[in-house]
Order: sequence, then structure tokens, then C-alpha cells
Amino acid sequence: MTIIDGKALSEKTLEKIKEVHGELQEKVGRKAGLAVIIVGENPASKIYVRNKIRACEKVGFHSETIRLDENILVENLLLEIKKLNNDDSIDGILVQLPLPKHIDELEVINAISAEKDVDGFHTTNIGKMMIGDETGFLPCTPFGVIQMFEEYGIELTGKDVVVIGQSNIVGKPMSLLLMQKHATVQTCNSKTKNLSKKLQKADIIIAAAGSPKLVKGSDVKDGVVVIDIGINRVDGKLCGDVDFDEVSKKASFITPVPGGVGPMTIAMLIKNTFESYKQRIKKSK
Ligand code: GUN
Repeated sequence: MTIIDGKALSEKTLEKIKEVHGELQEKVGRKAGLAVIIVGENPASKIYVRNKIRACEKVGFHSETIRLDENILVENLLLEIKKLNNDDSIDGILVQLPLPKHIDELEVINAISAEKDVDGFHTTNIGKMMIGDETGFLPCTPFGVIQMFEEYGIELTGKDVVVIGQSNIVGKPMSLLLMQKHATVQTCNSKTKNLSKKLQKADIIIAAAGSPKLVKGSDVKDGVVVIDIGINRVDGKLCGDVDFDEVSKKASFITPVPGGVGPMTIAMLIKNTFESYKQRIKKSK
């Protein structure tokens, strides 16, 4: 059994970007820039945003955090986005989700210029992903998972994959990307019948249900590859959607929580921001 070390792969990715960015920045005369908007006081969002800003600092990017009040009017949030769309020092814009209930998330996401949408959530980027147009940005978590498969030499063609979860930011794009890699994909949700039976047949399981230790040892076959995207807090401790102690006894590859997919999501955000920076430099020449 191999534990997929997302932390190490993330650090390797960031190191490489730091080096190339360092050289490029001297020639161009400006750093890559990421702006992060956070609305309200969601404690988990605050931690995620802090980690994203830290990653920017690690690789030498310019970063800005825009903290907005929970009760902000949507018009004012859209104005902030417009300013960032027109700011030449900013290559990537990210609005941390979830947003307060009175705000339409899709309206906000689609107000971000698709060329600066380094989260890969804009309708244009989702459409490009759907048809395999590689000029768009891929959503960071599914992108990170694909990088893990590549790094560890895990073949996807012809594999039976079960994805648990169908959110717009993780489950759906994950299933789409796997389909593009010629896997046979089943996307399950909390209403799926006989989930355990489906899991038992899977070569690869991707758990993004947000349900602590949902996948048990008895749900999986020997040699299964398991990617755990869940981040749950139980009795003050972090755990994934997979019962790691049980499932790791049968798996050929498995990601830990923490230290698996989480750091890769951030590394892909930095990678997308760097891509945007390079594209914008090219355009401005
Ligand atoms: N909330 C949970 N995950 C994410 C993410 O990857 N991006 C944004 N913007 N919000 C999130």
C-alpha cells in the first residue's frame, strides 16, 4: 500500500513555480498577483484563505485579501470584482465560497473575468473543460487529483471509477475530467441506492461527500485506489470521508487527511495563477 503524499507533491510543484516565477518576474518587472475576496466570518473559509495567501508568499507572488462584511449588498461585491478585473497587477481573482445566502454565487463567479478565474468556476471555463479545450482553467481540487494520478503512474483508461459527490466545485468537474481520461465513471450522491455494492466493484473511489468515515473497509475491493477529498472535523480532529485505518489495509494507493488532496488544491491555484500571469504577459507584448 502506498500513501499518496499530497503535501510533498504540492511542495515540489510550488518550488518549481517559485524558481520560474523568480526569473520571469525580473524580466517583466512585476510579480504574479492573486486577489482573494472573503465575505463574512466563516471560520473554515478564513483558514482556507489564510493558507492560499501563505502559498502566494511562499512562491513570491503578490497577493491581496479583500475582507467584506457578511451583509454586503451584491452590487458592492460586484463593484469590487470589477475593480480587480481592471487591475493590471492582478492575474487571478478568487471569491471564497460559500457566500452568504442573500448572494447569488453564480452571478458573482460569472462577474469575474474568465481570464482571471483561477478557481475555474466561471461558466466559460466549465464549458471549456466539458469539451476538453485546454485554454481554460481547471477547478483546483479535481485538477490536483489528476496530477496525483499522473505523479504516481495510476492509469485511468478503462478503469471503473466511483465518485461520491456531485457538487459544482468538486464532484461534477472530477467526474468530467475522469471521463476525459477515458475512465468509466459513476457519479453517486446521498440518494444513491446500494452505494456499498457500487463501491465494491470500483477500481478507483473518489470520496467528496462531506460525510466523515463514510467509506468503510467492507465497502472496497482489494487493490482499490482511494482518493479522499473530504475534510470533516470530528471531536476537534480532522478526518476524511474514508475510514483510513480500515480502507488502507485493502488499498493499493490511498490519500491521507490531512496531507492529501488539500495541499494539492492550493498548489493548483498557484499553478493556475502563474498560467494566467504568463498568458497576460504574452498578451500585453
Ligand atoms: N470553498 C471550498 N473550496 C473552495 C475553492 O476551491 N475555491 C473557492 N473559491 N471556494 C471554496
